[in-house]
Amino acid sequence: RRKIIIDTDPGQDDAIAILLALASPEELDVLAIVAVAGNVGLHHNATNARKIIELAGRPEVPVYAGCARPIRRPLVTAEHVHGETGLDGPELPAPGVQLQAQHGVDYIIDTLMAADPGTITLCTLGPLTNIAMALIKQPAIAPRIAEIVMMGGAYFEVGNITPAAEFNIYVDPEAADIVMRCGAPITMLPLDVTHQMQSTPERLAALLALGNNTSKAAHAMLTFSEAFDLAKYGWAGAPLHDPTVIAWLLRPELFSGRHCNVKIELASALTAGMTVADYWHVTGRDRNVNYLRHGDAAGFYTLLLERLARLP
Ligand code: BDR
Ligand code: CA
Repeated sequence: RRKIIIDTDPGQDDAIAILLALASPEELDVLAIVAVAGNVGLHHNATNARKIIELAGRPEVPVYAGCARPIRRPLVTAEHVHGETGLDGPELPAPGVQLQAQHGVDYIIDTLMAADPGTITLCTLGPLTNIAMALIKQPAIAPRIAEIVMMGGAYFEVGNITPAAEFNIYVDPEAADIVMRCGAPITMLPLDVTHQMQSTPERLAALLALGNNTSKAAHAMLTFSEAFDLAKYGWAGAPLHDPTVIAWLLRPELFSGRHCNVKIELASALTAGMTVADYWHVTGRDRNVNYLRHGDAAGFYTLLLERLARLP
């Protein structure tokens, strides 16, 4: 059973990822959820995380708030996709559980330092600010991280917030650069994979047909957030990003890619946050990332629906 910390900016697709993890207790022990600024401001994201654990019937999972802004740049948000609250769509009650008092970055540091090395996986579904700040404050955590599994970046599918950059990396490229160079094993689920995971009308209908409360809420979330992407791409279904991180932990055979070097563009205004993946190994640079490029969408949705059906 893998111990995971989910670092996130929920976000409808983040919410589905958290639900998928909470619905998989045999494989995953969710130690905590740490919110970060991204899709919307930190306050909303931290509130949304608590709404989601309550929706899943798991109010005991602790929720922490991390950093309210990127390391160097002004915060860029995405209300145009996720709505004013970041989780528009379903009517969810205000959370009853409290946010933990400790800062999310300190929680990450203390937890990694206290656990046996190589036993905790960091799942990142938003900008990498909290992880980078933890690495800066306590560099000794790096060799203790089992793995960082992140939704972020793009190479073959280039960008979604700019022509060159994916949102999570674009928001805090300096943080992403620190994480890419930290030495811990990294698996990336970039747009190259998530653009293949399209939520077609049939898949959304199957989600709603599960009939439980959580799936109805999940359906309302995706119906809201995907409207923007459907108009943007003109595809039959919108991409589903963050749940691929959890799906990879559960069913890695659904994905394929290769180990290669990934560096983050920091200097250029035109391409800031670009994840330059040396997929063809033309540079000889370190293979610092397990870069996933393909995903089995049918298998992914089968897994997702099977697991969400288990929730209240
Ligand atoms: C990423 O950006 C956010 O809007 C989504 O939640 C996902 O993490 C996709 O680029
Ligand atoms: Ca996210």
